[in-house]
Amino acid sequence: MSEVVSYNREGAIGVITVHYPPVNALSHAVRAGLLEALRQGQADAEAKALLLVCEGRTFIAGADIREFGKPMQEPGLVEVMDAIENSEKPVVAAIHGTALGGGLEVALACHYRVAVKSAKVGLPEVKLGLLPGAGGTQRLPRLTGARKALEMITTGEFISAYDAKAAGILDEVREDDDIGAVGMVFAGDVVAQGKPARRVRDLSNKVQADKGSAVFEEFRDALKKKSPGLFAPFKCVDAVQAATELDFDEGMKRERQLFQECMESPQRAGLIHAFFAEREAAKIPDLSRDTPVRNVDSVGIIGAGTMGGGIAMNFANVGIPVFLLEQKQDALDKGLAVIRRNYENSAKKGRLTQAQVEERMALIRPTLSYDDFSDVDLVIEAVFEDMGIKKQIFGQLDKVCKTGAILASNTSTLDIDEIAAATSRPEDVVGMHFFSPANVMKLLENVRGAKTSDEVKATVMNVAKRIRKVGVMVGNCYGFVGNRMLHRRGAEATALVNEGASPQQVDKVLTGLGFPMGQFAMSDLAGIDVGYRIRQERRKAGEDIPPSWMDKLAEQGRLGQKTQAGVYKYEDGSRKPVPDPEVDRLIEEFRQEQGIRPRSISDDEILERCMYVMINEGAKILEEGIAYRSSDIDVVWIYGYGFPAYRGGPMFWAEQVGLDKILDAVRNFHNTVGGDQWRPSELLERLVSEGKGFSDL
Ligand code: 3HC
Repeated sequence: MSEVVSYNREGAIGVITVHYPPVNALSHAVRAGLLEALRQGQADAEAKALLLVCEGRTFIAGADIREFGKPMQEPGLVEVMDAIENSEKPVVAAIHGTALGGGLEVALACHYRVAVKSAKVGLPEVKLGLLPGAGGTQRLPRLTGARKALEMITTGEFISAYDAKAAGILDEVREDDDIGAVGMVFAGDVVAQGKPARRVRDLSNKVQADKGSAVFEEFRDALKKKSPGLFAPFKCVDAVQAATELDFDEGMKRERQLFQECMESPQRAGLIHAFFAEREAAKIPDLSRDTPVRNVDSVGIIGAGTMGGGIAMNFANVGIPVFLLEQKQDALDKGLAVIRRNYENSAKKGRLTQAQVEERMALIRPTLSYDDFSDVDLVIEAVFEDMGIKKQIFGQLDKVCKTGAILASNTSTLDIDEIAAATSRPEDVVGMHFFSPANVMKLLENVRGAKTSDEVKATVMNVAKRIRKVGVMVGNCYGFVGNRMLHRRGAEATALVNEGASPQQVDKVLTGLGFPMGQFAMSDLAGIDVGYRIRQERRKAGEDIPPSWMDKLAEQGRLGQKTQAGVYKYEDGSRKPVPDPEVDRLIEEFRQEQGIRPRSISDDEILERCMYVMINEGAKILEEGIAYRSSDIDVVWIYGYGFPAYRGGPMFWAEQVGLDKILDAVRNFHNTVGGDQWRPSELLERLVSEGKGFSDL
């Protein structure tokens, strides 16, 4: 018998148990084991029905993604599904945890499905650039009708057990948490009531009713607006439509074809890279897995501005109380009003109840006094980027906070070690860099200082998980990973405009690559004053930062969306950037002052200079050990800056472009444009000379 799938009988029920931690993915061993267990169940004359149940934390969570791209080993999934569905003895799937992708497809091939109330089901293949390729697109609409199937398959979202029952996917949801017992009772009823092996493939009412329905065009139109650059969601619609137009076997063939098309798409490779990169980022190579994690049950946040307020919401959202500190009552009132408005907006959209809004607001306690921080487990400072002020704050925290409290700074560029040196406990000091808007963006860049203790590192990574962020641990340097690369891109984009491009042209090239917004629309969102202040700080520190038309914007009070004027202008109540002739004039004036004669710049040059400068910097970041892995850089960019996940992140994208091609261009720009940003990274040079990629490191 297979080690990962076992068969045994309890009374009249043949029990097939899958045990393949961590998530019972349908690896070759599991597929082969399932077939063998089914064979035994069929041969066992005493077994009147079969029960499929999983050990561990979840039902089958899908095909084994690690096997993708390798030669397929028989039996394939469809063969397993057919064997289940064709069983003359009724087969019951008992679901706990998550039945996802191929896992839900296995359950759909069973004749009955029962779940515990905490279970969730979904077909998330689209998030990996795929479609359900083991009958999901053909069986699901037979149970739910096309609309629900399209909703689930094109978004990949999970639904609760009760919703799945209402949609016709589950036959029963039980209150009991013991999945083995729940399955046995249900299967016992099937036997007692002499229920037949009811095959989903034979159900045709719903798919026939949906034949020729307008719902398919409706979904395609919506997808064109929502995910224009994506490949798989459209194939999902084609596959579900096929279920309404073809018989089951022909529909399965069509699904297979479409699945193969997705499998071969570069988007699939990018999205699967992103999936594993995110999970890899959670592992810190030089930290032992049993490093203790400190309790974080209360938090203090300094600064109730956009950042501080957004950070506070993250904790309130998961029930962790927060003290929010400001220097003046009116700033505090303003900050709280913004938080309330954000929550009220969510309530209006039906995402929160009014009671939840009040609960969360009650968890955020405003204060003007550091004394309230005497007992908190974690403090996050979120004031503006000024080293002097930050040092003063950390000196103060050192005095008031209890022993063992973690002292974190949300700085986006400044030296964590210098901040830590303002305290007598640098081992408790760390960077926790949130991304704007902090209540929305999923990235949390945790910055280790030279003296940050292992316990503190492990704790902040754990905090990221608790507040549902993707945590990436990075080293201490100017701008860390994300902003260090962003600032290179920003300077290059600004220089391109100096030389003759328009801000709109630069932004269009970047959105063309799949970024949700371009460099300059993003500056307007973050605030033109933020970059300006950083540049001024660096100039004060003696760095040679050339003047730019962006400085002029800040000096004229064009601070971005918040003043309805920045690089673009904004109509009342709108976030849509509108090109502004006044800015064109300002840029022209700047060029004249600097004696620059503008030239016409191609989109290709914009793409290469904006992106390759980032890749070169990313390679330096790796070379210096600031990021542990190139995939960590990808995660930072996908979750912090909206880099299109289907391109896998900037470093993965660079490998697709070709590191040799990028190095050639970097060398060329080093000679023509000049500047330290174009000094080729030694790592990049070494990899190219050895014919290797970042992923080989
Ligand atoms: N195949 C292989 N490994 C998988 C996997 C899968 N389908 N799903 C999860 N894993 C691995 C993860 O890589 C991770 O490994 P690690 O510990 O070595 O890093 C481990 O399982 C635990 O995963 P998480 O850290 O994500 O654990 P969570 O408890 O947070 O989440 C989960 C569990 C909800 C199951 C989540 O892992 C998930 O969403 N998995 C992907 C599900 C999915 O996309 N299924 C569809 C696959 S494609 C398919 O089925 C095609 C078919 O239609 C033919």
